[in-house]
Amino acid sequence: MRVVVLVSGAGTNLQALLDAAADPAYGAVVVAVGADRDGIEGLARAQRAGLPTFVHRVSDHPTREAWDAVLAASVAAHEPDLVVSAGFMKLVGDEFLAAYAGRFLNTHPALSPAFPGMHGPADALAHGVKLTGCTLFVVDRGVDTGPIVAQAAVPVRDDDTVETLHERIKTEERRMLVDAIGRIAREGFTVDGRVVRFG
Ligand code: GRF
Repeated sequence: MRVVVLVSGAGTNLQALLDAAADPAYGAVVVAVGADRDGIEGLARAQRAGLPTFVHRVSDHPTREAWDAVLAASVAAHEPDLVVSAGFMKLVGDEFLAAYAGRFLNTHPALSPAFPGMHGPADALAHGVKLTGCTLFVVDRGVDTGPIVAQAAVPVRDDDTVETLHERIKTEERRMLVDAIGRIAREGFTVDGRVVRFG
């Protein structure tokens, strides 16, 4: 299964996929990495792995739609079976969603449907929940609203900061992502309304 990964930052989720995919038995292979900004460790990880990369900054395009079309075209050039947004901090538009409907996944650092948006760990901490976690979902037109592929729960500790909580979530998030992408590669998956099943 050919996978294109989109990143905006450190790329530790990308690295976890690259490490897993080094074993041919894993079933998925990362074929390219795209980003919305230069100079990030996520791109450096891809380059160290010898992978092609592409960068499209929203500010370099006349409209958001134009950016979306260019992003979709760059992804298409690598003929992916699946596109994974792993810490990619942009919402894609209708053209991208139409091209990859049902095969564009995103990982979010909260237990959906709680705490959608850019500040999942901070919002969970502020709300005082005792459990939070991470969610892998099929991207739809909403913000972190799509059908749920996988989740993992993480305890919130009394002395947590946003940073310590997010790091604990990310440890589980990498495990969840590697497990789910491998299962999709080896078993496939179906989406029936809101319910996603492997196999
Ligand atoms: C992850 O927690 C992701 O869910 C969030 O940003 C983090 C990215 O981490 N949107 P990394 O770049 O994979 O290290």
